[in-house]
Amino acid sequence: MKITVIGSGYVGLVTGACLADLGNDVFCLDVDQKKVDLLNDGSIPIYEPGLDELIARNRVAGRIHFSSNVEAAVAHGDIQFIAVGTPPDEDGSADLQYVLLAARNIGRHMKSFKVIVNKSTVPVGTADQVKIAIAEELNKVNRSLDFSVVSNPEFLKEGAAIEDFMHPDRIIVGTYNDQAGYKAKELMSKIYAPFNRHHERTYYIDVRSAELTKYAANAMLATRISFMNELANLADHVGADIERVRQGIGSDSRIGHSFLYAGTGYGGSCFPKDVQALIRTSSQYGQDLKILQAVELANELQKSVLIHKVTKHYGNDLTGKTFAIWGLSFKPNTNDMREAPSRVIISELIKRGAKVQAYDPVAMEEAQHCFALDFQSSREELGRITGGESMYSVLKGANALIIVTEWKEFRSPNIEVLKTELADPVIFDGRNLYEPKEMSASGFEYYAIGRRAD
Ligand SMILES: NC(=O)c1ccc[n+]([C@@H]2O[C@H](COP(=O)([O-])OP(=O)(O)OC[C@H]3O[C@@H](n4cnc5c(N)ncnc54)[C@H](O)[C@@H]3O)[C@@H](O)[C@H]2O)c1
Repeated sequence: MKITVIGSGYVGLVTGACLADLGNDVFCLDVDQKKVDLLNDGSIPIYEPGLDELIARNRVAGRIHFSSNVEAAVAHGDIQFIAVGTPPDEDGSADLQYVLLAARNIGRHMKSFKVIVNKSTVPVGTADQVKIAIAEELNKVNRSLDFSVVSNPEFLKEGAAIEDFMHPDRIIVGTYNDQAGYKAKELMSKIYAPFNRHHERTYYIDVRSAELTKYAANAMLATRISFMNELANLADHVGADIERVRQGIGSDSRIGHSFLYAGTGYGGSCFPKDVQALIRTSSQYGQDLKILQAVELANELQKSVLIHKVTKHYGNDLTGKTFAIWGLSFKPNTNDMREAPSRVIISELIKRGAKVQAYDPVAMEEAQHCFALDFQSSREELGRITGGESMYSVLKGANALIIVTEWKEFRSPNIEVLKTELADPVIFDGRNLYEPKEMSASGFEYYAIGRRAD
């Protein structure tokens, strides 16, 4: 099938590459010419395991190409996937300007029936807005053409995006209940047929339920994380071990083990903005989701939990102290730094006068751009952050190690090297990677989240 994917970010690139790999003829559009040039030079603008090979293979086979030519993109696909960003607006609602611009471009240039598929995460009612935008553009150019808008939210996880896209738990397809909608449903079922060979994974539902399902999924997962973070903070006070509690409740099949790890708060490009957007939608309809307000507040507070442990140990003034940081991306296997807890933690350390020596296996370059932005008002503060080449090189002379992201390589470190390189044997572990008793027996002062050595 001929498919256009609008937006070549995390979702657009993965969607385009995976659909090309299934034999489709995919046109990836992006307005960012630099990104398009990079892709056409054979580079990938993001770090996502396996994506470079997938794109290279399909480029050689002639099944995927990249361009900024809007007219050609609209002409190419009978199906137009919209996968552009929906960042938070000032009031927390989803900013739909990129989605609506993409829709208007389709309306302006389309010359035949099109199915417009919304893969971006958008509030309930957006498909209606997309429909209106396209109809207005068609009107302006005096063309009367049929089209249908579909809501097909994406559930992939950065770091495992290809696996998630190729082996989805479910595919949600929301269509309108009219002639064009039936035609759209037929085309969507053809696109997704390869995913349903083993058993049917696609749920065909109405557009509004599809739009809400995406927010409901992310809000539920964020809720589990905030719940565990609050329990961990309580465990710290009552002398319980949150890891034992996690295992104890996770083994209940009604609860399950996923998303029960206590840590430094959720980050990334999705949970924070999607929770905020759903809160905003609920208040617009006078149906405040009180539980989500608490989830968001708990998460904000959680980002400072490690800092509280640091200041309890060293006092508020950290002048003259140096901290080694392991992990900068918001989670392992990605270089995505959007809303990463590391940014809050580092900014708090710097504000209190400390120096930071940071290491991340893949996010160093991205982190440099982010810190340049975060500290644009003070070159002196920015100058107190340095990056290291390896997890051990940043330990040299540091007063403590702070673990922020649970990359695999941090799980079994060489304890002897840790001890000799750190100036003081102190570890603040925001991901509960080690056994507190073992760390204590090895001579470390070890602070975790909801766990203690005694
Ligand atoms: N990143 C994730 O893990 C994830 C998972 C599921 C859903 N989503 C949702 O998918 C959407 C995209 O997220 P992302 O992380 O891929 O975003 P992103 O910021 O990485 O990429 C968006 C891309 O769209 C391009 N763009 C913007 N306007 C355009 C236009 N009019 N025409 C063509 N290109 C345009 C931008 O230049 C950018 O390259 C968001 O709504 C997000 O919430 C993201």
